Amino acid sequence: MKTEMAMPLRGISLCSFGILCFLLNLNNLISPAAGYVLKDCRVTRTTQAICQKNSFNLFPKDIPLIVTSIDLSQNNISKLNNADLKNLPNLLSLNLKCNSISIIESGTFVVQMSLEVLNLNSNRLCKLQEGMFDGLVNLTELHLTSNRIKTVAPGSFKSLTKLKFLDLGHNKLHQLKNILQHTPHLQYLSILANNISNFHSWELSNTSTELVSLDLSLNELRVFGLSADIFPNLTRLNLANNGRKNGIVWDVNDTSYLRRVSKLYISGCRLQEQQKVLETFNSSLIFLKLNQMRNNLRVLINISCKIPSLTSLEVRKNDIKYIRSDMLPLCTNLKVLNIGSNKLIDISNNSFQSLRKLNILIMKSNRLKSVPYAVRKTAISKLDLSYNNIIILRCDDFANMTRLSMLHLNNNPLSALQDCVFKDLVNLKFLMLQNSNISKLNSAFIKHLPNLQVLDLSNNQLTLLDHGQFKALNSLQNLTLQGNKLQKLNKGNFNGLSNLTYLNLASNVIAKINIGTFGDLKALKTLYLMTNRLKYTSEKPINDPPFAELSQLDTLYISGQHRHLKSAFPQNLLKGLTNLSLLNIRGNQLISLHPDIFNYTPNLNKLYLSANDLRDLPDNLFSPIQKLKALYISQLNLGSLDFLLLANLTELKFLQVRKNAFSVISETVLQSLPALKYLDMKFNSFSCNCDNAWFIEWVKNNKKTQVLDAYNFDCKFPPNLKGKKLLNIDIRSCTVDIGFICYICTACAVIMTIAVSFTHHFLQWHLVYTYYLMLAFLYNSKHKNKRAHQYDAFVSYNANDEGWVLGELLPNLEDEQGWTLCLHHRDFQPGKSIMENITDAIYSSRKTICVVSRDYLKSEWCSREIQVASFRLFDEQKDVLILVFLEDIPMQQLSPYYRMRRLLKRQTYLSWSRADAHPDLFWEKLRQALDTQEHPMGEHLRLTVEEGPPGERPDQ
Ligand SMILES: *[C@@H]1O[C@H](CO)[C@@H](O)[C@H](O)[C@H]1NC(C)=O
Ligand SMILES: *[C@@H]1O[C@H](CO)[C@@H](O)[C@H](O)[C@H]1NC(C)=O
Ligand SMILES: *[C@@H]1O[C@H](CO)[C@@H](O)[C@H](O)[C@H]1NC(C)=O
Ligand SMILES: *[C@@H]1O[C@H](CO)[C@@H](O)[C@H](O)[C@H]1NC(C)=O
Repeated sequence: MKTEMAMPLRGISLCSFGILCFLLNLNNLISPAAGYVLKDCRVTRTTQAICQKNSFNLFPKDIPLIVTSIDLSQNNISKLNNADLKNLPNLLSLNLKCNSISIIESGTFVVQMSLEVLNLNSNRLCKLQEGMFDGLVNLTELHLTSNRIKTVAPGSFKSLTKLKFLDLGHNKLHQLKNILQHTPHLQYLSILANNISNFHSWELSNTSTELVSLDLSLNELRVFGLSADIFPNLTRLNLANNGRKNGIVWDVNDTSYLRRVSKLYISGCRLQEQQKVLETFNSSLIFLKLNQMRNNLRVLINISCKIPSLTSLEVRKNDIKYIRSDMLPLCTNLKVLNIGSNKLIDISNNSFQSLRKLNILIMKSNRLKSVPYAVRKTAISKLDLSYNNIIILRCDDFANMTRLSMLHLNNNPLSALQDCVFKDLVNLKFLMLQNSNISKLNSAFIKHLPNLQVLDLSNNQLTLLDHGQFKALNSLQNLTLQGNKLQKLNKGNFNGLSNLTYLNLASNVIAKINIGTFGDLKALKTLYLMTNRLKYTSEKPINDPPFAELSQLDTLYISGQHRHLKSAFPQNLLKGLTNLSLLNIRGNQLISLHPDIFNYTPNLNKLYLSANDLRDLPDNLFSPIQKLKALYISQLNLGSLDFLLLANLTELKFLQVRKNAFSVISETVLQSLPALKYLDMKFNSFSCNCDNAWFIEWVKNNKKTQVLDAYNFDCKFPPNLKGKKLLNIDIRSCTVDIGFICYICTACAVIMTIAVSFTHHFLQWHLVYTYYLMLAFLYNSKHKNKRAHQYDAFVSYNANDEGWVLGELLPNLEDEQGWTLCLHHRDFQPGKSIMENITDAIYSSRKTICVVSRDYLKSEWCSREIQVASFRLFDEQKDVLILVFLEDIPMQQLSPYYRMRRLLKRQTYLSWSRADAHPDLFWEKLRQALDTQEHPMGEHLRLTVEEGPPGERPDQ
């Protein structure tokens, strides 16, 4: 029935909805969403927090839990408290280099069970104390270089059982006590540059360690004493720069104690018994450093070269001027010889003759004026002659050096290359000729070097490349011509370079790239053309788009062309670059970009447009490059970011928009970038008012996009907020807090729920009536104009009173008085709903007679009829209701029917029970009541009332 419709929302569902909403809301209030923006750090893709150079005095508090690596180097932290790192249990690496830490509270690292690398270099620690490193059970690397550590307390390292690497260099340690006793797996220990004068193995714990490398250089070592086999695995021992005064006393009883040492550095070291020392390593030594030796170097070399295993010798910084044939005669096993950083001016022809196994010869940083003849008699594959005074390379300089694969000739004053100079270098792969003042290449690369892979000619004086200049270099992959004076590029310049993948032409003065220049570079992937002078002034298509043949090109830099103000790129400049993924055109003074410019580069991934004067970007500029992931549009004078709305950059992850001219960031713009992870908006002029309220909220609370350095965004407007920080602005007055709205809704819902439940429980029928009143109202509006009344009266009665109605009422009113009555059993139309029938009956009758009895009052339908009729009273201002009381009914029994009671106060009523004596009078009164015309309720009708209401006085 209709009652169901009366309450579409059941109390229960409403209630549960309200409670749910309330709980959600509560949740919101209790844990405000932790934002993703960090005050001074940024979190990188690899969950690294970078907080360098921010002048932190304290450990930052807002680093999120997910971070596994923190770089806090170069700040001003002076103390680590034991609460600082409590919330960062996932750290693997912590860099606190270059702070002023002098105190680390005991227990600071107790939760850092997973930390593997801790860097405390360059701080102010004076003492390592018990408990300082407690908790670091997984630490493998500890860097403590450049502190002021004098003492190490016995238990300092007791948690560090997994430590492999410990650097205590540049401190003030006098002894090594307490360092090795809790670190059984330590492999690398550096005590470089401390104040240790005596090294005695019994000072360390006397158990054997796994130490692989021990650096004791730059101490004041006078004694090196080993009385137990505590370093069975030691392979690298650095004793450089010790024993300056009297030489080190070598007290190693058993030469087998150092049986595995293969690398020995005794540079700048005075040894009392050189021979004895070197014999200790007789069977294992491979690499020996004898730099900066003051004593008789030649003797020392000869002793060393007697060690049969020695293959690599370094004798740098020994002021050697000449090498004669008596210098290295015993070094027949050497493979690597480094005589760099000496003062070599001459090497006699047979100097290297005995070095039959020599493979690598390094003579960097000497004073050689030409390539020494002696090198030709070797079979070396790597020769380093850089930083000498070689002015000219002669045709025979590398004659017969067919094994040479790497040749460093950079930083010599060469000026020109001869055609034949590299003629025999058939296996050369790397040729370094940078910084050598070369202005002419001549034919050096036209015939030779078929296997060259890397050629570095940067920072020379080249002004022009010839046709086929590099013709022979079929294997070349990497060519650097950066920093020359090339003015234009022509077709054929790169002829033959079919395997070239990297070409660096940056920092020349190239103004013109002629058609076909890059035609031969079929494999080219990277092209650097930045800081040249390419001139384009119009967007009109050009006939010779320079990159048309570079279909494999992946990376192109054309940034920073030194230009007059105002330039424009031809719309087809990028034609042919179908595989380009990175394009950098920043700093070109561009004043516009043609909307079609990127039509040719559908695979663009990363685009640098910054530092131009574009002011606005065409809406459809980005539509051909939907795969864009990183976009740099800083310093463009952009007044708004609205062009992004249509750009549809759904894959964009990184956006940099520094230093532009907009002051407000709109919600829709940022929502149009669904994949955005990093947003860099530094140095903009933000407006600190309600226009940015949404942005401020979003920066703080969104979990998806990290806004770099947002806490340092400055307010530029309004003037009174200048100098304040954007994120500190109070925006509560701007937005009606959604939470608050939800709260209010919730509260209302809860109250409603309670009200409805109450109503439903106690006033169920009133609700139903209200519903029907509604229906009646609707009906009435619908039938407003139909005024003809079909009946004189509709009789509303209870079935129990049918006898009286049919026996008394009907005969008297219809037969005697001639009224037409409407009775439900007789006149209701079948098929219509009861309520519809009631409403119809009431409205198509002039009056409604309610036959009121106790049964009537109990009946739902009868009460409804009163309701509809009384609605008509209020609605039409017509008195249609005539109440006939069949029995005396006390007022109390009427009380639930509030409306009826009100009716009784004002309306016509007749009492049959009191009419026993004068039935005729009763019928006459009824006739009069039926007779009254439809006047607005008024005095006239009241006068027809003769008797008081049954039971009580109505006016009480
Ligand atoms: C310590 O390191 C090992 C492997 O190196 C790893 O399996 C273990 O989970 C780490 N312990 C903690 C607490 O991170
Ligand atoms: C070296 O051995 C001698 C005797 O063999 C012994 O007296 C001396 O104490 C030992 N030196 C060390 C440092 O153990
Ligand atoms: C040290 O050397 C021993 C053999 O003498 C070897 O078993 C062990 O693995 C080595 N330890 C390390 C850490 O290299
Ligand atoms: C190169 O080697 C060949 C034969 O091995 C020899 O005849 C020639 O003289 C050598 N050239 C130079 C410049 O040493």
